[in-house]
Amino acid sequence: MPAVVVIGGQWGDEGKGRVVDFHSQYCSVIARYSAGNNAGHTIINEKGKFALHLVPAGIFRQDKACVIGNGVVIDPAKLLEEIAMLSDRGVSVAGLMISQLAHVIMPWHLAIDKADEALRGELAIGTTGTGTGPAFHDKVGRSGIRVADLLDRQHFAWKLRTVLEYKNRILTQLYGLPPLDFDQIFETYTEHGERMRPYVADTIAYVQEAHARGEMILLEGAQGSLLDLDTGTYPYVTSSVPASVAAGGAIGIGLGPTAIQRVVGVYKSYQTRVGYGPMATEILEGGDMEMLREGIGGVAGTAEYGTTTGRARRVGWFDGVLARYTARLNGVTSVALTRLDSLSAFERLKICVAYEVDGERVTTLPATLAGASKATPVYEEMPGWQQDVTDVRHLGDLPTEARNYVRRIEQLLEARVDMISVGPERSQAIVTRDVFGAALQ
Ligand code: GDP
Ligand code: IMO
Ligand code: MG
Repeated sequence: MPAVVVIGGQWGDEGKGRVVDFHSQYCSVIARYSAGNNAGHTIINEKGKFALHLVPAGIFRQDKACVIGNGVVIDPAKLLEEIAMLSDRGVSVAGLMISQLAHVIMPWHLAIDKADEALRGELAIGTTGTGTGPAFHDKVGRSGIRVADLLDRQHFAWKLRTVLEYKNRILTQLYGLPPLDFDQIFETYTEHGERMRPYVADTIAYVQEAHARGEMILLEGAQGSLLDLDTGTYPYVTSSVPASVAAGGAIGIGLGPTAIQRVVGVYKSYQTRVGYGPMATEILEGGDMEMLREGIGGVAGTAEYGTTTGRARRVGWFDGVLARYTARLNGVTSVALTRLDSLSAFERLKICVAYEVDGERVTTLPATLAGASKATPVYEEMPGWQQDVTDVRHLGDLPTEARNYVRRIEQLLEARVDMISVGPERSQAIVTRDVFGAALQ
């Protein structure tokens, strides 16, 4: 069977966690392939409400293998906290596997994340402060520490001593920060390693075997394509290597690209962004901003505040230019459109279908920040539906205006919408096809 990747089509927080939670029922392996605990995936199901940062959202299905792949960076303390939280709440983590090749977020990464932000001046990114960016920086710079390194005391002592000497020079001489203490880090991270040991495996071999047996594999993306290092709104992006786009799924888990035959693009029915950077359709103030941010008209308690940092998310109208760009970038074969309920109070809705730059109409992404600041959205207006849709489970039961809105997004994305979510809970969705493309309605 093919592997399927679920990716975010915007700037993250599209609702990937809930989409993976639903579709993991059709798969035997669910795997995270990139990023770190900068990701925050909210899942609400019969077991309660959960915020996951590293553990794949398939963990709620008891008989599944949940893999944290080689492309992920792991803050051991955060992962162990997450494992303990799940166990305490009655969710078995017996199926969890951690790649021995995943890189580890170390204390200097947290210090540098903070210090870099302060030094960047106008180019500050608004990172999550989780050390994720600096950990990827070290991975690429070939001074990273990997999970396997923590499991061999002697080897870890040698590696940490070598790396720390170099990092302490950077911390003290470049950043003016105090040096970090070898003994304290050695003891803490050796203990973290021991607590992770039962889950550590050669996940590449495991996933390859599962694929060879014909098992269904779901790759859970983190972030959104517009935050991708190569193809996103650089420099206001994240640092994942491999990329957060679908192509990174193969590398980050250890499969060949031909294994991935379907790509589910998760798109929010409007636009949100956390952190800095251009956002052409942003609504900066007023009633429309308030309605989107607070989710007025949709399910109460699902206002737009970050799962990881609690920051208020910037909000705006659906950007069809960017959405088409990311649909093509990822080879999206199926769309999951989320939070349709959050638009229920609007009399009229806007969709951006082009930009005007220096008097010219363009449908591509400006390459520079200066270009992006000149891009004015060209909007199409559509009537809203102004009725509650949270109980709708069949496409035909949606108000005509809502169906038309979905159709217009399908046209812009050049891909079929197979799932529409109308509330945050697992059951609050209209699902017309499963993640492998089989018709359900
Ligand atoms: P992810 O990072 O892509 O997994 O998304 P997040 O979990 O960070 O953010 C999505 C937010 O939207 C969470 O608070 C979800 O509970 C919420 N959510 C997801 N789908 C829906 C929906 O259909 N309606 C509403 N009102 N909220 C939703
Ligand atoms: P999920 O998986 C939303 C944003 C940060 C910041 C930029 C760089 O929940 O969709 P970083 O800490 O990665 O160096 O920050 O990227 N960012 C996210 N925004 N959702 C995410 O993940 C994000 N991961 C990173 O806010 O603007
Ligand atoms: Mg999130």
